[in-house]
Amino acid sequence: MRDVVKRFPGVIANDGVNLAVRTGEIHALLGENGAGKSTLMNLLFGLYNPDEGEILINGKSVHFHNTRQAVEAGLGMVHQHFMLIPRFTVAENVILGNEGPDSILDRAAASRRVAELATSYGLNVDPDAKVGDLPVSMRQRVEILRALYQGSRILILDEPTALLTPQEVDDLYVILRRLRVDGGTIIFITHKLREVANVSDRVTVIRRGKTIGTRVTSETTSQELAELMVGREVLLRVDRPPATPGETILDGEDLRCTGAHHQETLNVASIQLRRGEILGVCGVEGNGQSELVEVLSGLRKPDSGTLTIKGQDVLGENATGFRQAGVSYIPEDRHGRGLVLDFPLWENALLGNTERPEFTKRGWIRSGWIRELTSSLMARFDVRAPSASTPARSLSGGNQQKLIIARELQRDPDILLAIQPTRGLDVGAIEFVHRSLVETRDSGKAVLLLSFDLDEIMDLSDRIVVLSEGRIVGEFKGSTADRAQLGLLMGGRPSEPAMAAA
Ligand SMILES: Nc1ncnc2c1ncn2[C@@H]1O[C@H](COP(=O)(O)OP(=O)(O)OP(=O)(O)O)[C@@H](O)[C@H]1O
Ligand SMILES: [Mg+2]
Repeated sequence: MRDVVKRFPGVIANDGVNLAVRTGEIHALLGENGAGKSTLMNLLFGLYNPDEGEILINGKSVHFHNTRQAVEAGLGMVHQHFMLIPRFTVAENVILGNEGPDSILDRAAASRRVAELATSYGLNVDPDAKVGDLPVSMRQRVEILRALYQGSRILILDEPTALLTPQEVDDLYVILRRLRVDGGTIIFITHKLREVANVSDRVTVIRRGKTIGTRVTSETTSQELAELMVGREVLLRVDRPPATPGETILDGEDLRCTGAHHQETLNVASIQLRRGEILGVCGVEGNGQSELVEVLSGLRKPDSGTLTIKGQDVLGENATGFRQAGVSYIPEDRHGRGLVLDFPLWENALLGNTERPEFTKRGWIRSGWIRELTSSLMARFDVRAPSASTPARSLSGGNQQKLIIARELQRDPDILLAIQPTRGLDVGAIEFVHRSLVETRDSGKAVLLLSFDLDEIMDLSDRIVVLSEGRIVGEFKGSTADRAQLGLLMGGRPSEPAMAAA
């Protein structure tokens, strides 16, 4: 890609980007939130046309008018946000758009072909499962299968690991290496420097729409890459003074939930949040995290148990009542629960705040004031967008996340539920969020941090609990936890000292 330019109203997303990728390599594409990575890949895949510049594949200049032409040229793309049809099966999704000339679809044959392909790449997924029933990691495999089925020789993966657990990330690396052995070429977008080091051969960094440089991965360091990305020195770990925990502000006992098939999904005997403390919750996804968060945010009533905030019983309250009691919530699913994508940023800043007098007066929305607030939040939290009237949809993933964090911290909550708060954020933004969490703690608030990134949990938490099969199976002082021990507990294999600590 040579001197590629792509403009959107008010934004130059790509401002003369150069990217050269070799056959058979895994090439990482690194850059801050909003740097222009997804846009560049969308151009390559024929979703947009460049305003200027040239794209060459195997030395030949190409002009794709749609993704079909890109697929025919051997490209495949796994998008940052999934593009599958939930009601269709895996096989149907994989062959969609590639059904062949026959007017009657041979489902059995398609399903067989998809199963063969899955086996040959170690992509363990049931071709007849309905995509809507699959966990995200499986959906991602379906996206990869889809690209392989189309015969892609150049595979673009836009933040493929943002939603995966550490084990699933390892599985994905194995798949990518296998593709490389077969002569496939992979462009891999990520914010995680450790992943760049683990999986890529070379790495290109872009910043604010321009190429900053390309490095051979083995000849660079995380520190150098972080600095290339943000243009300044970055603290890869936050400085954190020891906590001085105060009174218990949230107290839950015997919280139980059951799932659709009457199975137990949550059974927490006791959980407390204290002022001035960050409680880290770790565990493998699907072990009661969503249920716990839904109960603590008022989105779900547990089947039994008690829950008080500042001594008041809150179980009769809905989510609004919880917010009024002082709870802020950074949700895991930013599109599903965090934002209304078609609303402008200022209306998104209003969400969840309509009960507050600054935001509404006698039933009228104070739009002027909210717009000003939104602009100042955008400046403070570095939300990069043309204005407070921009629709949330047109922001890059990371900037959408920063807007949610800004809104939730602006409420000055007593309790902050931070669920995967740095997912999809760049190193500079992560540093900022981590600092904000510590500041929130140090101003006497209680923070619950739920993350699938063990390093994040260990770096930030004053106390750590491990969830497994809906139960708290271990509790540690932040400084005494060790990775291996946590890992064992997460996998449901308690070790002796952990049980003693619990
Ligand atoms: N369809 C669009 N309409 C208007 N602006 C857009 C559109 N798509 C992207 N942008 C803007 O272009 C810039 C680059 O966005 P892009 O999504 O390429 O960033 P990114 O590097 O992928 O970031 P992230 O790491 O947060 O996903 C951003 O300022 C974004 O707001
Ligand atoms: Mg992106």
